[in-house]
Amino acid sequence: MRNLLAALFLTTTILGYAQQKTIDQKVDELLQKMTLEEKIGQLNQYTGDNTVTGPLTINANKQQEIKEGKIGSMLNVIGWKYTRQYQELAMQSRLKIPLLFGLDVIHGYKTTFPLPLAEAASWDLNAMELSARIAATEAAASGIHWTFAPMVDISRDPRWGRVMEGAGEDTYLGSRIAYARVKGFQGNKLGDLNSVMACAKHFAAYGAAVGGRDYNSVDMSDRMLWETYLPPFKATVDAGVATFMNSFNDINGIPATANKYIQRDILKGKWNFQGFVVSDWGSIGEMIAHGYCKDGKEAAEKAVLAGSDMDMESNAYRNHLAQLVNENKVPLSIVDEAVKRILRKKFELGLFDDPYKFCSKERQDKALSNPEHTKAAREVAAKSIVLLKNEKNILPLSKETKTIAFIGPMVKPKRINHGFWAIDLKDIDSTYIVSQWEGLQNKVGKKTKLLYAKGCGILDTDKSGFKEAIEVANQADVVILSIGERFDMSGEAKSRSNIHLPGVQEDLIKELQKTGKPIVILINAGRPLIFNWTADNMPTIVYTWWLGSEAGNAIADVLFGDYNPSGKLPMSFPREEGQIPIYYNHFSTGRPSINEDKVYKSAYIDLPNSPKFPFGYGLSYTTFKYGDLKLSKTKISSNETLEVSMTITNTGKFAGEEVVQLYLQDKFGSVVRPIMELKDFQKIKLEAGESKTLTFSIDNEKLSFYNQVLEFKSEPGEFNLMIGSSSADIRLNSTFELIP
Ligand code: GLC
Repeated sequence: MRNLLAALFLTTTILGYAQQKTIDQKVDELLQKMTLEEKIGQLNQYTGDNTVTGPLTINANKQQEIKEGKIGSMLNVIGWKYTRQYQELAMQSRLKIPLLFGLDVIHGYKTTFPLPLAEAASWDLNAMELSARIAATEAAASGIHWTFAPMVDISRDPRWGRVMEGAGEDTYLGSRIAYARVKGFQGNKLGDLNSVMACAKHFAAYGAAVGGRDYNSVDMSDRMLWETYLPPFKATVDAGVATFMNSFNDINGIPATANKYIQRDILKGKWNFQGFVVSDWGSIGEMIAHGYCKDGKEAAEKAVLAGSDMDMESNAYRNHLAQLVNENKVPLSIVDEAVKRILRKKFELGLFDDPYKFCSKERQDKALSNPEHTKAAREVAAKSIVLLKNEKNILPLSKETKTIAFIGPMVKPKRINHGFWAIDLKDIDSTYIVSQWEGLQNKVGKKTKLLYAKGCGILDTDKSGFKEAIEVANQADVVILSIGERFDMSGEAKSRSNIHLPGVQEDLIKELQKTGKPIVILINAGRPLIFNWTADNMPTIVYTWWLGSEAGNAIADVLFGDYNPSGKLPMSFPREEGQIPIYYNHFSTGRPSINEDKVYKSAYIDLPNSPKFPFGYGLSYTTFKYGDLKLSKTKISSNETLEVSMTITNTGKFAGEEVVQLYLQDKFGSVVRPIMELKDFQKIKLEAGESKTLTFSIDNEKLSFYNQVLEFKSEPGEFNLMIGSSSADIRLNSTFELIP
């Protein structure tokens, strides 16, 4: 048997190598036939006109250029019919090299899932992989080969509008999620009809923009870059990500697009990345505005030499690369390497065998009407909801409630629930999106009377709607109030200097509170918001983010207890903007704020250091007891693994899920170490009264960090081990020692 298995393995390996060798051979053979202009065409990407996701600067006859082999990829072409039309033009080119079609399928194609930040609050890696899987299935069935996702930018600044697109502030959680999302998008293998190429973006450290202002500069030590911002990108490489997208920002003075250190030394060198790098929209040409290049020619030269393979929408390669090669400023080998990386993916996708393989009306229609997708969207949305307060146990509501007043600007609109980076499919109307009002209607029985009032707008200061809101509230047994920021107040180019609840919404809450009715507050947003008065004075608050196509049903499932909320915050919620950047895994400082000294400590004189709601926080309708912490050893060496076990018990009356979080503190190091760092977690479902024992493994990698000379290694010494329900709710403590 063993010999048979060995022979099988050997045969598979040889066949696999032969097949891989075949693709490499095909790439080389094709490259030999290509003119320089055709090679440069493969490095050129233009937008279609289905949607615009950046400043339009190019006025080209795209149809003609495709026929001439001057374009290798299009983005923002949506649907099997339109991608087929463009592909037919490419088949008229001399070498018939198929186009790649890319699109921002960030949290769903037609079936829209919660914003990525909301999904991160589920801490459910299977749910996030499923969400990406379904998005890929629908996109691939609609002619798309490539999604510009997952966005894996760590961010500790909720002023930055693009926090909605990522997985929050924590490197460990962000890395696990990045891995899951790539697996979800790419499925079993590229070339499958339900797989798309994923794209790790934005490389790198885009989420650390100064002031939380989009596109702003980033300046940090290489140690911080390696310790905090690069690991999620490395996780995507480990997951086999097909492409990377660079970022708009400069990093320590060098724009990412021309940053050889990150694109060649790290990504293509140390990490041996075999895919290709696409620039972000116009980022090559924007190096002129950066003041880093004096013209498009210099930008093209610096970008391609630094490892940017494909030029999205700046025309720099198309206009200048041939001349740069002819002037020996750019070696032809550099161009060939970029072209080969792109052609390899086109072969892997099977596009040379059948350029139209992803263009099928039947498959698109079937994929976009799959009830399993809708069901999954509802379940993932419910898991993403975070219960912030339920002090008087108003929740879950009874389905027999006689009269419910549903008030607020978010109650009836449909499209807003998709949030930013949703795909507005022109030939599909938005009636399939379940509004929050419809979700309530679907949930309650005929005996329940539903009342509605808008109450106020989101941004305006008009309070004339308050009167009607108070009137319907006074007729109700319970009031649900759905407020927040507008769906397009987070996302790209949506940084806010003030992240308080906008408009007069908090005034409306104060007026409704005077009715004395039980009030459930729903907060819809793509980022942490500041709502201190509401947080201090209202007993029931649910963070509903933007939950996608099934938002209304998911919210109703949670409000009425058909799903017990289990979400945990992936970002710290500040009390005031003045605390930003705010994150749980900060360094101690020499005068920690917990010091006894009333004056000389690292603290504000006007605000506590702590967030309003901490990283990892979220309530349930039930309660959980943590106990019975055991460590396999109290001393371990670097080649040993520490086994940790604990028992968790559901001590309430509802079945529910808990995210058990394991944090470590490396007490002393050759560089200062964070007061705590998430190193593992498990999300576990328990019936009322049920107990389970969980085990965690702490290997040397979890004890390692980047030292001053960027070596990733552990150092002997004492560690605190903490297990809890949030970063600020540690239930079990222990210590162990790493010995030399
Ligand atoms: C945008 C975004 C990027 C997106 C690209 C294509 O500017 O920065 O995330 O994938 O352009 O739409």
